Amino acid sequence: MNSGLPLGLMMRCGAQEDRMNVNLEYTPASGGLCWCGSGKAYGCCHEAIERRMEEMRRQGHVVPTRAMLKTPAQIAKIRESCRVNMAVLDAVAERIREGMTTAEIDRIVSERTAELGGVPAPLGYQGYPFSVCTSVNDQVCHGFPSEEFELEEGDIVNVDCSTILDGYFSDSSRMFCVGEIDEDTQKLVDVARECVQRGLEQVRPWGHLGDVAEAIWRHAEANGFSVVREIGGHGVGLEFHEDPYVSYITKKGTDMVLVPGMIFTIEPMINMGDPDVIVYEDNDWEIYTEDGYPSAQWEVMVLVTEDGHEVLCW
Ligand code: MF3
Ligand code: CO
Repeated sequence: MNSGLPLGLMMRCGAQEDRMNVNLEYTPASGGLCWCGSGKAYGCCHEAIERRMEEMRRQGHVVPTRAMLKTPAQIAKIRESCRVNMAVLDAVAERIREGMTTAEIDRIVSERTAELGGVPAPLGYQGYPFSVCTSVNDQVCHGFPSEEFELEEGDIVNVDCSTILDGYFSDSSRMFCVGEIDEDTQKLVDVARECVQRGLEQVRPWGHLGDVAEAIWRHAEANGFSVVREIGGHGVGLEFHEDPYVSYITKKGTDMVLVPGMIFTIEPMINMGDPDVIVYEDNDWEIYTEDGYPSAQWEVMVLVTEDGHEVLCW
């Protein structure tokens, strides 16, 4: 079988160990080691994965590029960034309360991130003017923190936090309910969270992004809700937004194949009413539901592993 891979780089498994014990004539060049920096021979590391990717590509599947597969060293750094991001969200969770302005949430995020040695990724990202997104009720995402907006009983707010630590990116978001909220809205928040859970259950090597998407939209629709079509998740880690784009409206067995080492977000926006959204023209950032009904979103960052997945950040 010609996999199209550099056959010259192939090594027998265990060659590294052999080399240390036996006086072999054959001394593999450093090119014999896997590109991922694992220190293992390519033939014992990514070769099998890349052969399978190539085979699937030939069968017409969309497969990731090598650049979308994070190396063990990169994953370790991204994990650290994720830990900070979760700690920042924990700080918000401890202090968020009725009567607080969303600008105060921005200050909590900015201060806690700095204390932990990170930088808020949103600030200055494509001109975004704050450290965090706070999206309340019918705001779908990218809500601007504001000194004028006080959280009131019955509000639901998505706090979307992203951190750069030592050059590595993390991104996750949670919903917060202010005081008592009405039953339908509570159901929306709960179902949005369950959608992420259903999506995560589909994350395994050699599955498809469409498996994740279908699990999500089926659960949302089964509960009478809708999924925003225009905005999705993304690869993340070395940059804030990387390929692939992660849709929540595609079908099982379609879209990109999942391969160990991929890291992406699952962050579906679930609407109580119609799926249509509008961009607030005054700032070209804030997204609202068109019909004014509320929207809820939770975001996690997930790594595809050899035998399933690992949630890195929530
Ligand atoms: N999780 C959000 C996203 O991926 C974070 C947006 S921050 C912003 O879209 F700066 F882009 F607004
Ligand atoms: Co995101």
